[in-house]
Amino acid sequence: MKKEIRNFCIIAHIDHGKSTLADRLLESTGTVTTRQMKEQLLDDLELERQRGITIKARAVAMKYQRGGIEYELNLIDTPGHVDFQYEVSRSLACCEGALLLVDAFQGVEAQTVANAYAALEHDLTIVPVINKIDLMNARPDEVAEEMMNSLGTDPFECVRVSAKTGLGVNDLLEAIIERIPAPTGDPNAPLQAMVFDSNYDDYRGAITYVRIMQGTVKRGHKIKFARKGSVHEVVELGQFAPARVSCNELSAGQVGYLICNIKSLGDVHIGDTVVDNIDKSAPALPGYARPKRMVYCGLFPSDGQEFTDLRDALERLAVNDPSFEFEPETSDALGFGFRCGFLGLLHMEIIQQRLENESDIDLVQTAPNVTYEVVDKRGNTHTIHKPQDVPDPGDIEEFRQPIVRCSIIVPNDYIGSVMKLCQERRGIQRAHEILGANRTMLTYHIPLAEVVYDLHDKIKSATKGYGTLDYEMVGFEPADLCRLDIMVNGNRVDALAIVCHRADADRRGRAVAKKLKSEIERHMFEVAVQAAIGSRVIARETVPAMRKNVTAKCYGGDITRKRKLLQKQKEGKKRMKAVGNVEISQKAFMAVLSDG
Ligand code: GTP
Repeated sequence: MKKEIRNFCIIAHIDHGKSTLADRLLESTGTVTTRQMKEQLLDDLELERQRGITIKARAVAMKYQRGGIEYELNLIDTPGHVDFQYEVSRSLACCEGALLLVDAFQGVEAQTVANAYAALEHDLTIVPVINKIDLMNARPDEVAEEMMNSLGTDPFECVRVSAKTGLGVNDLLEAIIERIPAPTGDPNAPLQAMVFDSNYDDYRGAITYVRIMQGTVKRGHKIKFARKGSVHEVVELGQFAPARVSCNELSAGQVGYLICNIKSLGDVHIGDTVVDNIDKSAPALPGYARPKRMVYCGLFPSDGQEFTDLRDALERLAVNDPSFEFEPETSDALGFGFRCGFLGLLHMEIIQQRLENESDIDLVQTAPNVTYEVVDKRGNTHTIHKPQDVPDPGDIEEFRQPIVRCSIIVPNDYIGSVMKLCQERRGIQRAHEILGANRTMLTYHIPLAEVVYDLHDKIKSATKGYGTLDYEMVGFEPADLCRLDIMVNGNRVDALAIVCHRADADRRGRAVAKKLKSEIERHMFEVAVQAAIGSRVIARETVPAMRKNVTAKCYGGDITRKRKLLQKQKEGKKRMKAVGNVEISQKAFMAVLSDG
């Protein structure tokens, strides 16, 4: 008899209650008892706890009895943040259905729309769910209408739940079984399994997470990873419930793990296909779309000795996160380091934090920049990942920058301030859609550089936190851009160069020079900070020579304050880099983000 299986994921905006709902489903199906229920079971990566964002996709199998039939419900966890679309699409490829979870008070957000479209593109059946109906200020009817207007879901099909109290969760389980189709795929066909995640266990080696598309895999089978053709024996296989539970076989439609004595995570490629080790094995599945790395920054050890430690740490991270890339970079100012590519700003912050948590290296990070294209006078196109590589003005025929389509959902009161922000960021309005009584979706084309600098934060503060932003690449477009160089005592500091719009160059140049003046500590001599385009200096500031010691301004008698100040100065010292004979702090390298 064919097993009754349902594979689904939950897609939701951050904080709409995905983890809480997952916990309730585990509890309602008896997969874990209330006592075993650790808070927020699915978010177990420590960093995720700190940041409260689900980053890595996980899978858990639940058993549910109904009408004498046992159902296996596989829940695949997905991240909700705009930077992690790539991981979302990995999870979607393993499911037949998606619970589209929307907070009954917050309503539809930009990421909800983006993720719902992604699910539809993967042909998933969508079960709309309105969560947090226990809230005093819940407005489920309006939210159902917003969902209809933005996503086309039928208000009568919305399942209303409280993930917190468990209200409606049984109805949701029914909806999962009734509406989401069972997986197809012949258990007797040649094996074809999609690798959607992996992690490393110190005792067992690499653990490969798979969704079996067709065929059956058993303990002792020899399997082959299609991409490299490497052959391994399956020594253990099973499912997560939510701890690892081993079994004898996994067949078409199931989701689980394989352990094959693989000693390095580098041998397991996410998006790869696992097949039988026979001549007529099944074809490889289409992999996942390669993630687009659009934001780059330089990472340098503040102590040059730590270069190899940094390389090892980056290698470890890259294995676990295929969307992150790095290559060696040499900077006159910062020495040997790496140029790293990220999906977005949040991704960059997370990698940086993980580096600091997991290794003991002091880092100096340069300001993030986006990828540019430059066509030189000879007609050659160059892809530029760092501003200092932009050729001199005389050699540029065309300068192109990446443009993204931003969808911004805001309560109506804030439409004006958000439109103003987008216009200031050189946005071009493309659409203005009314989603409900008090929510509007604005669509703008905006240069990615403007988005990554601070648009998200600015929208959040302009809308008291209610506005949400999502973006996707449109393509490269020509723009009037220039390279702005920063010089410290006459030395061009490559790591401080930025690319900006020519019309903004004077303002940016002045702002950066001013910011640097405040970030560079006084030396025994005067320090001149200049901003220049080509050979034209557009701004100059001077850091006067040192006269007093740092504690001098604490004229009161409070010794603890003085100590704190000295301590702070000592800590600040750690992340210093010398440019010529001028010491520049980590914070100063981010000064180029300053807007004036
Ligand atoms: P990320 O992991 O950051 O994407 O968030 P999430 O979508 O998993 O949200 P999470 O489950 O962490 O819930 C966010 C907050 O909403 C938590 O403080 C929950 O306690 C709360 N919450 C979740 N569901 C409900 C609900 O049904 N009612 C109420 N009142 N609060 C809820």
